Amino acid sequence: MALPNKPLGETKAVKDPEVEEREVDVLIIGGGMAAGGAAFEVRKWMSDDQSVLIVDKAAMERSGAVAQGLSAINTFIGENSPDDYVRMVRNDLMGIVREDLIFDLGCHVDDSVHLFEEWGLPIWKQSDDGKNLDGKKGQKMGTLKAGAQPVRTGKWQIMINGESYKRIVAEAAKLAIGEDNILERVFIVELLLDANKENQIAAAVGFSVRENKVFIIKCKTALIACGGAVNIYQPRSVGEGKGRAWYPVWNSGSTYYLGMRAGAELSMMENRFTPSRFKDGYGPVGAWFLLFKAKTLNGLGENYAASEAAKQELERYAPYGTAAVTPTCLRNHLMLFEMKEGRGPIMMDTVSALAELGKTMDKKELKHLESEAWEDFLDMTCGQANLWCATNTLPEEKNSEVMPTEPYLLGSHSGCCGFWVSGPDYDWVPDDYKIKADNGKVYNRMTTVNGLFTAGDGVGCSGHKFSSGSHSEGRIAAKQQVRYAKDHADFTPAISQSTEEIVDMVYKPVRNLLEHCAYTTAIDVNPNYIKPNGMMYRLMKATHEYGGGTATYYMTTSKNLEIVMEMLEMMREDCDKLAAGDLHELMRAWEIKHRIWTVESHLRHIQYRKESRYPGFYYQADYPGQDDENWFCFVNSKFDPKEQKWDIYKKDYIKIIPD
Ligand code: FAD
Ligand code: ADX
Repeated sequence: MALPNKPLGETKAVKDPEVEEREVDVLIIGGGMAAGGAAFEVRKWMSDDQSVLIVDKAAMERSGAVAQGLSAINTFIGENSPDDYVRMVRNDLMGIVREDLIFDLGCHVDDSVHLFEEWGLPIWKQSDDGKNLDGKKGQKMGTLKAGAQPVRTGKWQIMINGESYKRIVAEAAKLAIGEDNILERVFIVELLLDANKENQIAAAVGFSVRENKVFIIKCKTALIACGGAVNIYQPRSVGEGKGRAWYPVWNSGSTYYLGMRAGAELSMMENRFTPSRFKDGYGPVGAWFLLFKAKTLNGLGENYAASEAAKQELERYAPYGTAAVTPTCLRNHLMLFEMKEGRGPIMMDTVSALAELGKTMDKKELKHLESEAWEDFLDMTCGQANLWCATNTLPEEKNSEVMPTEPYLLGSHSGCCGFWVSGPDYDWVPDDYKIKADNGKVYNRMTTVNGLFTAGDGVGCSGHKFSSGSHSEGRIAAKQQVRYAKDHADFTPAISQSTEEIVDMVYKPVRNLLEHCAYTTAIDVNPNYIKPNGMMYRLMKATHEYGGGTATYYMTTSKNLEIVMEMLEMMREDCDKLAAGDLHELMRAWEIKHRIWTVESHLRHIQYRKESRYPGFYYQADYPGQDDENWFCFVNSKFDPKEQKWDIYKKDYIKIIPD
């Protein structure tokens, strides 16, 4: 008889888990930067009789994209203006953005950065004679709030010693919200709408990944802040490197899945991010370009980005391509152009950059500079530093290859997919950007589902928030959640599903396995079920080959899209047959379901938009180039949970901040 479960390691799943029911006013789902901001802010606005709960699938101290730490804060307005911040984001995202959301964030983000510093995050400072001071030396210069000057790498980015960034943010969040109001290692699988009130959020359903327990959490309002989507495409790292990616592997598109299945309107899901990264270790490039002033060279050793051919190519995408800072997708586009023309690989010229900076330095300063190069990765992507060690790479002696990664979906970094949310209720915000709740009021960052909010990677049309902006947006949303809960004090959430139905849904993969596992001798091979691992390979192969993955240099076509959409539909159907023997595998089963729906919405949007708005991120070969006349607009979509049908349509872009 086949063994029903792994004998060691994970907690074996049982057929009938315990059930824990809770009811709170305000629910925060996720434990990353946005949720951390929400948890920090929320109690300030709550009255004594209101209740709150935060639920993270992992442990907040090291969960989400900032788990390993970061080496920069990429959004700090400082001496700049929020108007200019809007202009920068608009240019980087090829013109179509929600300027109300970006401006609003720009007005608040610095406060979060000031708080990080107050909580102990070391921020690099400039000395009076213009030198970079990091760590304790930087701290001695005083705080940003008190007027000390940060070390700016670009116009918006500042350097930090950020290995413990997430721990610092999580500690503040936990202290503020209170230990009793935190659930860690609970994975939320579905949101439930209210049984009596149309289009109103009523509950979240999840399970513990440490004990056999299902959670049903009723709420008046929920925030979904589960980050972006990773591993929806075949990653470049396969075989022994599998499990590495740039964006956090455990963010499986839950934000998008949870909201879309409740009927919340999505926007710009066609947008994706395929960042150029140090090859195989996924080390970020920002510090190298901005702080160390490095250049990328093609295989012939040419600075291709400064060539006449590159200039001409960029002119095709004016005004974005000809702006002072080339948009992220077009930087990729130039890189891909070289690779496709047979002039790869692309190398980051770390050797010349460090030599140039070292010219004016004494020996001690030079040593410090070299350690900064290592620290950039040790603070944020330590695998890259390991890879340098493993390949005898000293950046001052040997250049490293860079390469655009597999696609990720996100709304907080240099991408802008996510939900269509309400802007703030100011008179300058166009009515079309405000979502009116059932009581006629406007709640900033609320989705089109009453009481359902999002932040960070969840908010569409407004990228370049990064860690600080996501935190700040979580704070904005939490305050509005409390207001919503107060305005709906007499609402008692009710759900139509019975406890048995919910348990059956959440534990279906476990029940599938237990019912059928005796049929075969190899537990992973069974005609009655599919393991999440198998489904993962199926998904990755399909998107990789047909959905504009790295296999085709991010190129897709109408016919390819038609094929992949059919495959995804079958995968969605087959999700009913997923099987899990332990709690980790149960999480994997739900993650893959979340990924399938998320990437389907992405491809559905690409299929709808008849142009290639983001060259370098993806190409729709049947519609190359941009068609401003017909497509200078948002694309929004909505899954109707009652009819189980999709709708997709254009939405007008409104310019608020002049050029
Ligand atoms: P996250 O912070 O990723 O949080 C998501 C949370 O949701 C996690 O706690 C996760 O455990 C939880 N979760 C997921 N699914 C579920 C579920 N189903 N149920 C319950 N909980 C769930 N920004 C900068 O400012 N500067 C930088 O230098 C910088 N460098 C970066 C380098 C790397 C390698 C990466 C990956 C990101 C970097 N960023 C940087 C970007 C920044 O980290 C993100 O913009 C930010 O963390 C997004 O916040 P978020 O809250 O939306 O998502
Ligand atoms: S990170 O978040 O993983 O560190 P990344 O290294 O790409 O991302 O970028 C960090 C910051 O630098 C972002 O604000 C990004 O827009 C900016 N950046 C990266 N490369 C360049 C470049 N070549 N020119 C201008 N800005 C850049």
